Amino acid sequence: MNFDFYLPTEIIFGVGTVDRVGEIGKRFGYRVLIVTGKKSSKENGALNRVIESLKRNGAEEIFIFDQIEPNPTDKSVNLASEIAVKEKVDYIIGLGGGSSLDSAKAVSIVSSNEGYAWDYVNYPEGPRLIPFLNRPVICIPTTAGTGSEVNRYSVISNNIRKEKLVISHSLNYPKVAIIDPSLTISMKKRLTAMTGIDALMHALESLTNKLSNAFAEDLAIRAIQIIKKWLPIALEEPENIKARSYMSYAAMLAGIAIDRKRVALIHGMEHPVSAHYPSVAHGEGLAALSIAITDFNHKGNTQKYALFAELMGYEPKSSMAVKALEDFLEKVGLRISLKDLGVEREKLEKLTEDVYMLSRGLFAINPVEPTLEDIHRLYERAYEGY
Ligand SMILES: [Fe+2]
Repeated sequence: MNFDFYLPTEIIFGVGTVDRVGEIGKRFGYRVLIVTGKKSSKENGALNRVIESLKRNGAEEIFIFDQIEPNPTDKSVNLASEIAVKEKVDYIIGLGGGSSLDSAKAVSIVSSNEGYAWDYVNYPEGPRLIPFLNRPVICIPTTAGTGSEVNRYSVISNNIRKEKLVISHSLNYPKVAIIDPSLTISMKKRLTAMTGIDALMHALESLTNKLSNAFAEDLAIRAIQIIKKWLPIALEEPENIKARSYMSYAAMLAGIAIDRKRVALIHGMEHPVSAHYPSVAHGEGLAALSIAITDFNHKGNTQKYALFAELMGYEPKSSMAVKALEDFLEKVGLRISLKDLGVEREKLEKLTEDVYMLSRGLFAINPVEPTLEDIHRLYERAYEGY
């Protein structure tokens, strides 16, 4: 057995914990920038609760950047960073889904160093700039899937280049994650499913890839067990706080698992899809690709895929992992194809090239190392939906 573990993020978990943000934030200062999306954190009351808690605890200035889009762009990160610099904010709060959390973390890096957001993303050749400083970040998720609140990744899109890449650096961890499962209750059914599947894919990919980390694998195993049991309940009973709590917990476990063990080809092939089609949600793209890729991958790690099948309630055989995934996606309403998501067949060639240009760093750790022909074939299968 071998593993390494590092997580400089304090985790505060529980119903009602969002109201503690002011008390926690004052450790970092009194001028704060909240980075959030356009609507949901206002509609579900989360933004107001954050502001009230900050005011109760003596915050002097509260700035709000509320323009984060579902696939967040470098442009928004740059705009929010300008506010952080101009207003000399002491710390940043990311409030919302993965997009808001990823953006808040990136704003911390960009506002504390030279250059722009795109200078810090990881091309296979490496990022153009290395950060040396950051501002403290508090992440408050309102969905249960991304795990961004507990890891060093920010996934950012560049709409001009039509590229989606990751900032991954030890300065990109939040200082504190406040995980209040009650904030996820207002999620609609499809969003609950999509974000839950994102967490499941984090667990599946980190469990099965070629990196070795026994600790991260245990986190992934537990996340799979929880999601299998509780995601269908969260979908049927949106106000079931026990189901919501378990889903927030599973997303957190899987978020830590990928921090240590990374993801694999499902994520590597999804990013070009939502880069070219920003209306495709990350979780939908993953759902559409996952069956074809699991069918390709399971032969490369029969033991772990057999374990996945078993955890999902099937015979412990690696080929059953495909069936387990198909049935689960059907159950949560995400048995979908790339065609269903509006992807055009003539784009598959370009998507394949982009996987090579942008995500080839994942090839060697994928359970089966893919060729470009494999990837094109997998896109074709996912396009048709099998
Ligand atoms: Fe993901």
